[in-house]
Amino acid sequence: MRVLIINGPNLNLLGTRVPEVYGRETLEDIELLVRSRAEELGMDVAFGQSNHEGDLVDMIQQHHDWDGLIINAGAYTHTSIAIADAIEAAELPAIEVHLSNVFQREEFRQVSYLSPIVWGQVVGFGYRGYLAALDLLYDRLREEAAES
Ligand code: DQA
Repeated sequence: MRVLIINGPNLNLLGTRVPEVYGRETLEDIELLVRSRAEELGMDVAFGQSNHEGDLVDMIQQHHDWDGLIINAGAYTHTSIAIADAIEAAELPAIEVHLSNVFQREEFRQVSYLSPIVWGQVVGFGYRGYLAALDLLYDRLREEAAES
């Protein structure tokens, strides 16, 4: 099972970026935690981060033959038709993660261009959201493998 985990703009600043909203863990801390859980589950994971919309689209296209996607597109969540189209074209089961509870924040954060095409959202649980998303994808992929 190969799962791509991508983070969008400004998430490279985690740890120091508004920690009361996004937590004190850095993206590196989160990657280590997720890698350790993936190892327990016997999953392969790749991480990518970019501040540029087209780079995120490229990463999704390049991994279209992987088994799943976990994405925190940051602010592009609320604007990007291109990223939504890339996920749809890749036909990957995808989970949208947000560290903060976007539904308790500004109205513009409550709109997600990704939500119609992802499997589901994990929102508001900080870094734990990535771990939950990994477990959810693992369960789904295992069920699908057992059925086929
Ligand atoms: C975010 C929420 C977005 O609204 C914001 O632009 C981010 C981070 C989150 O993880 O809570 O960059 O995706």
